[in-house]
Amino acid sequence: MVTGRASSSSSSSRPRFFRFLPPPSIPAYVLSLFLFSIIVFFFSQTQISEVSQKPFFSDDPPLLYLQDVEDQLWDSSFSHGLQPCVQPTRKYEAPQAWDRYLTVRSNGGLNQMRTGICDMVAVARIMNATLVIPQLDKKSFWQDTSTFSDIFDEQHFIATLQGDVRVVSQLPKELESAPRARKHFQSWSGVNYYVEMAQLWQDYQVLHVPKSDSRLANNNLPIDIQRLRCRALYQALIFSSPIESLGKRLIERLKSNGKYIALHLRYEKDMLSFTGCTYGLNDTEAEELRTMRENTNHWKLKDINSTEQRTGGYCPLTPKEMGIFLRALGYPPSTCIYVAAGDIYGGEKYLSDLKSHFPNLLFKDTLATKEELEKFASHATQTAALDYMISVESDVFVPSYTGNMARAVEGHRRFLGHRKTINPDRKGLVQLFDKIDKGDLHEGPMLSSLVTQMHKSRQGAPRKRYGSLPGLRGRDRLRTEESFYENPYPECICRSKGHGKRQ
Ligand SMILES: *[C@@H]1O[C@H](CO)[C@@H](O)[C@H](O)[C@H]1NC(C)=O
Ligand SMILES: *[C@@H]1O[C@H](CO)[C@@H](O)[C@H](O)[C@H]1NC(C)=O
Ligand SMILES: *[C@@H]1O[C@H](CO)[C@@H](O)[C@H](O)[C@H]1NC(C)=O
Repeated sequence: MVTGRASSSSSSSRPRFFRFLPPPSIPAYVLSLFLFSIIVFFFSQTQISEVSQKPFFSDDPPLLYLQDVEDQLWDSSFSHGLQPCVQPTRKYEAPQAWDRYLTVRSNGGLNQMRTGICDMVAVARIMNATLVIPQLDKKSFWQDTSTFSDIFDEQHFIATLQGDVRVVSQLPKELESAPRARKHFQSWSGVNYYVEMAQLWQDYQVLHVPKSDSRLANNNLPIDIQRLRCRALYQALIFSSPIESLGKRLIERLKSNGKYIALHLRYEKDMLSFTGCTYGLNDTEAEELRTMRENTNHWKLKDINSTEQRTGGYCPLTPKEMGIFLRALGYPPSTCIYVAAGDIYGGEKYLSDLKSHFPNLLFKDTLATKEELEKFASHATQTAALDYMISVESDVFVPSYTGNMARAVEGHRRFLGHRKTINPDRKGLVQLFDKIDKGDLHEGPMLSSLVTQMHKSRQGAPRKRYGSLPGLRGRDRLRTEESFYENPYPECICRSKGHGKRQ
């Protein structure tokens, strides 16, 4: 410090400053020092109050600061230099017109089917087969009679994959009665497994696969197979034109209002019943959900302790909790939130808790006209497709729970440029919510700073796909790997040319 030497050489008890001042000016000096310190005091006060109000909007915040908060809330400036890369490598060969056929029945909801179909494209390529347009699950919880071409653009799918796999609309007539091999492929299998399966062609010309979900490994596949999965999902498998055009119209409507959050609110009756999460519900409702679980045969877990489930972070956040969470992150009450969801359990009873934090809630039926929604009304898969499109295009995507939809949207957003996806730390958050319930913590600056800190690194910034949890082997290891479609980095996302490092 500059003053170090001077003060050490000073032997006087009087401050060095004063020694050089003529005696008569000392009172004036003290006075000016006093005034100066008052000014400093006022400055520091305004700064403190700004800091303590951080993610909240005071009535008249300084302009610069407002801009800062805006950036933080909406910006995802992560994608610098990263872009989609799905081109095949040089050794990739054109497909042959194989006269053997893979028929597939895709199971699950919309996104389980979408990713399963893309895996089957890759499997057909590995096994040198022609893929017949998959049949869709009509029996699952979704109870939807939609066919492939109701949901997807079939011609576009076939044409886009021309350089990869031959895809046909139907099995050739003469093969309809041919003997078929029926094969449940093992989950998370690699290339060697499917090369082995290709021996089935020695005895059969048609191979039927009754389930398409998670049949292909997430990792350790050739780069050309991984990129084919991305081409299939992000370029070939687009929605049918009625869905695409309404989806785009709804997105335009949302964007004309400014920025919006897409909130994937998993608070449907079946979700709560399946997970056994009854926090915040009354006894009658809890009992209703328990009965539903008892009576649903394919849900194996019957006896669930709701409290333990919630504390472990295994429950979807409630509408009320999502409201508190998003406000604590700093989103102002005027924020536009599109609720991507099926029917919310309890309807208005529980939605009102979210609405009180964010009055600008939008739903499909407030955004679209009755006529526009008419033809989709009884098709859960098609309305889910609208939610999917709106979620991918949102400024910020927040899922209240994990699942195929949340994973697929997150992956797609990463692929398109690491658009902001906020993943709530459910386990950490319920601890804070419990403190609020007990009155030990309140909504405000303190909660805000805890929540913001907790979610600093949960906003969809670029990172490579997680591997399996440590200490596991075999199938368990594969099960715990992060899904390829949740994060197709590094295979399908690369550093662009001219942005520093080469690949
Ligand atoms: C598929 O065809 C290619 C080219 O003819 C061949 O090299 C490869 O071994 C075949 N794969 C299988 C699994 O039969
Ligand atoms: C529980 O909630 C349901 C649905 O809102 C309501 O009809 C019922 O009266 C409530 N029961 C109790 C015991 O509060
Ligand atoms: C559920 O778990 C909590 C915490 O472990 C425990 O206090 C409670 O008694 C359990 N409830 C039931 C019904 O077993």
